[in-house]
Amino acid sequence: MDRAIQVDLKPSFHISSAHSGEVLNRRESLRALGAFLAGSPLLAQQDPLRDHTRVPGLNELLTAFDFEAVAYTKQPRAVYDYRAYGSDSEFTLRRNREAFEWVELIPKRVVAGPVSTACEVFGTKMAFPLIVSPTAAHGELHPEGELATHKGALAAASTPMILSNNTSFPFDKVVAAAGSPMWVQLYPKQQLEANRSYLESAQAAGAKAVVVTIDQQVSYYERSLHDRNLNSSTRGSARGPGMRPTMGNPYRVADNRLWYEWKFFDEIRPFVKVPMIAKGVVTPEDAKLCLEHGVDGVYVSNHGGRSLDYGPSTLEVLPEIVDAVHGRVPVLFDSGIRRGSDILKALALGASAVCIGRVPLWGLGSFGAAGVQRVLEILQAELVQAMQYTGCTTLASVDRKMLLTNFP
Ligand code: FNR
Ligand code: LAC
Repeated sequence: MDRAIQVDLKPSFHISSAHSGEVLNRRESLRALGAFLAGSPLLAQQDPLRDHTRVPGLNELLTAFDFEAVAYTKQPRAVYDYRAYGSDSEFTLRRNREAFEWVELIPKRVVAGPVSTACEVFGTKMAFPLIVSPTAAHGELHPEGELATHKGALAAASTPMILSNNTSFPFDKVVAAAGSPMWVQLYPKQQLEANRSYLESAQAAGAKAVVVTIDQQVSYYERSLHDRNLNSSTRGSARGPGMRPTMGNPYRVADNRLWYEWKFFDEIRPFVKVPMIAKGVVTPEDAKLCLEHGVDGVYVSNHGGRSLDYGPSTLEVLPEIVDAVHGRVPVLFDSGIRRGSDILKALALGASAVCIGRVPLWGLGSFGAAGVQRVLEILQAELVQAMQYTGCTTLASVDRKMLLTNFP
């Protein structure tokens, strides 16, 4: 260390006792260490404003967007990016958000009493029309993974959660940890028996509804290739270096997506004793086909902009799907919800309840279960406020008349 001091210290930091060969006392050696660190070129390379940067605490976060920033600072780059990605050029990802700006809420002064947001969808009683969408691999964001997400969601007025097929913890463990039922999501499997065992074991463990995702099977995100170039470790990708070219598929575009036909719903129906919901519907034609194949719920979603790029935002297509379904089954909605007013707009355009994908992940990735709880409570409080501003006291009074829509 003495040598390092002699090399690195500016003259004003010289420690005379070190040079005269005397033994350093404790205070002097600390001063020498401090001087060494202060003069270190390592620190000089850092952000000169570093003393002013800090990660805010949970109580300081006021909107869902605040949680995203904190999650970004706390997660490795590839872990954050996997959640942020949309497919290809991310047009639909951006449009999902933009669409909320094309819908205005009409203010109405003086609310006629307290606001109630209570509702029931598929037999599940809810304090708010808000559900956690199924999203993969929460274990990457927090050691307790989906156990923490479920606990946090339950703490936020018993918000229901749909457990992803790609969960880090099995369905029965997540249910047991929180002592409360969930819904379960299925990615169709080509072997019918594989669907049967998955669905039957989830229902035996208490799944209250089955959500079958039909818009995406395998992720592929161009941004993950950029991550590779930044030398960051990435998840497996359905295209690119992780996938071998074959004779039939020389360009490594995944061919195992979207193989299913509508009859898949008829085939799995015998194993599904709870409501069966089709997730990923974006056209009225497909909504009608869902009904023809015995589906109990239509879930309007473009996978948060992670399915077909250059497809429409879900908010734009919601009204025509609601019209096609015509009240025969509930219509769920997701993709782009970040605020309570977004929830209100989707409800006013006919959704029975909305789901949120990334927002609870930002809560989990920033503060674990407590973060999930807080971010959901923020959206719930914002919904109540938006209902007050628009003069709605119940969800039944929320309708299209409270909106001006300017979709292009
Ligand atoms: C998803 N989504 C998803 N959907 C599904 O059915 N099964 C899954 O395993 C996953 N996994 C997943 C991972 C990540 C990181 C994201 C962002 C999304 C889609 C999800 O259920 C939902 O449709 C969207 O996230 C909704 O859009 P917002 O709320 O994220 O804008
Ligand atoms: C995704 C898949 C896992 O969106 O659903 O990445």
